[in-house]
Amino acid sequence: MARRLVIASQKGGVGKTTVALNLAVALAERGSRTLLVDLDPQGAVGLSLAKADTELPGLAELLMGQATPEEAVLVTRLAGLSLLPRGRLDATDVPSFEEEVSRPGVLAETLESAEAACDIVIMDTPSGLGRVTTAALTAAEFAVLAFQTESLALRSIGQGLRVLEHIQTAGNPRLQLLGILPTLVERERPGTHAVLSEMWNGFPDTLETVIPRTEAFAHASTLGVPVGFLGGGAGAPEARRFELLADELEARMNRLLGMEKVHEAQPARQLL
Ligand SMILES: Nc1ncnc2c1ncn2[C@@H]1O[C@H](COP(=O)(O)OP(=O)(O)O)[C@@H](O)[C@H]1O
Ligand SMILES: [Mg+2]
Repeated sequence: MARRLVIASQKGGVGKTTVALNLAVALAERGSRTLLVDLDPQGAVGLSLAKADTELPGLAELLMGQATPEEAVLVTRLAGLSLLPRGRLDATDVPSFEEEVSRPGVLAETLESAEAACDIVIMDTPSGLGRVTTAALTAAEFAVLAFQTESLALRSIGQGLRVLEHIQTAGNPRLQLLGILPTLVERERPGTHAVLSEMWNGFPDTLETVIPRTEAFAHASTLGVPVGFLGGGAGAPEARRFELLADELEARMNRLLGMEKVHEAQPARQLL
């Protein structure tokens, strides 16, 4: 069965969709069959990828039984990466979409039909820990919580962790926090290092990999491509950042699932 990972945040505009997309690309490029699922009624993933996204069938149709998984899941030009867009959703349909997604068991069942050929499912969620995000977390094994690296965010980390605990006890005991991800990191800005140290010291689940704020991400989303697809090597260092993130997250998943590589107890060679 595919591992399901949710990218969530309390605030909007912290780079969640950017992380979901570029992480999915990094995972697919290293050989994991990856499905990126857009759970944001605003259709954020599709918006930054396909221009005619609102015309594509997707999760909404799958939920309503109006499309088959073959019709709803888009195979992308990158081998190993598929996309389940939000689907055609008028603003007036959003409440019924949210209602359907949060009906007990419905999202898990729908994902099962779409993820059959996948190793990992990345779910991008709307901002805030509302009902759609709660439904995603209830159907998943792993959560990554994204926080903009500024002092105000420190207060909301504890709050985010409590919401997660509540979902773990109330609905999904299998859910594990995979990591707290510092985003929009501005290394040059005074105070950034203090905030990062507080995150690392105060919250042991804070990831070592952080996502810097760089123009390349904004540029890539304007063009509707993952950052590594920018021409002339423009996005290369940023794409490398997501390879590191994929590395760290995969190692953590393996550790939490008890699948970490066992180191040989005996040395293979001698130095002296
Ligand atoms: N690391 C980054 N550096 C610079 N701009 C970014 C970065 N991440 C996201 N952005 C830009 O910020 C805006 C919000 O990002 P997005 O990923 O949509 O956030 P969210 O999904 O949390 O609302 C977009 O215009 C995006 O291009
Ligand atoms: Mg988003």
